[in-house]
Amino acid sequence: MGKACFLVCLAILLANAETLVGRALLAQKTCPPPGFSSAQPFNLLSFIDGPWYVQKQVTTTYTPENFLYCVRANYIPIAGPGDLSKGVFVNNYSNKDRVNGMAATTSKSQGGLQLYATVPNATVPSQLQVGPYFGDNGVTTAVSSVSIKMSGQAANYWVVATDSSSSDPLFAGYEWAIITTRPPTIPSGDGCRTGSADGGIADVAQRGFWWFTRQQEAPAAALEALRKKSLELGLDIGVLEDVKQEGCDYSGAP
Ligand SMILES: *[C@@H]1O[C@H](CO)[C@@H](O)[C@H](O)[C@H]1NC(C)=O
Ligand SMILES: *[C@@H]1O[C@H](CO)[C@@H](O)[C@H](O)[C@H]1NC(C)=O
Repeated sequence: MGKACFLVCLAILLANAETLVGRALLAQKTCPPPGFSSAQPFNLLSFIDGPWYVQKQVTTTYTPENFLYCVRANYIPIAGPGDLSKGVFVNNYSNKDRVNGMAATTSKSQGGLQLYATVPNATVPSQLQVGPYFGDNGVTTAVSSVSIKMSGQAANYWVVATDSSSSDPLFAGYEWAIITTRPPTIPSGDGCRTGSADGGIADVAQRGFWWFTRQQEAPAAALEALRKKSLELGLDIGVLEDVKQEGCDYSGAP
């Protein structure tokens, strides 16, 4: 009897253990999430139609904790309205320590290091690369090699989701967007995150995840849509921090 129980019980124990192991394996994340890609179809001209206000983001080298005030990005076509062939100026803006505090910007006309973005592969306009702009020398597609020299990595900028599709006949422009630096490769929280696994300087330099809205103060529905879509994409939203937008005065922002 004891021996029978021993065998049967062992079998039951093993079966349970197997289920537990099975569950653990199932719960184990695959990063990047299978099928993770950028938004398609995507209309870059509509995307840069106006400034984007950052509602949440992961802190980065250039946007540490004390710069999460009044963060905004404004993209201006270098070759003038409608021509994206030379890329777009990237005018980032944020305030230090408080709403309307000292301004940090990537606009050269305001003393910053001018950045610009290009689309390396025209068939995938939602995958951009951002790098420093050294004047109109005709080499405006060299973003990635410059960035690689500077940081060891091309500074990727992927629009991974937007509120609507630019192929929708009722499309009237984008209201929200999710941006990441690249597919998130590191298991984190309930999903995956961008950056590098070492958790050090390289990690902070390489990670990037932003919630953009067209309106300075995001409607609750847009925030809910951003949350829902981020989870659906397999992104860990636990890494995001709030950006203060209330009361920000952007009248002097590039
Ligand atoms: C500017 O902001 C974009 C996202 O809005 C980001 O991809 C880029 O790395 C930022 N660069 C700097 C220097 O702030
Ligand atoms: C551009 O992207 C398309 C679609 O992903 C791909 O098939 C093509 O190989 C890419 N071209 C280059 C030059 O990488």
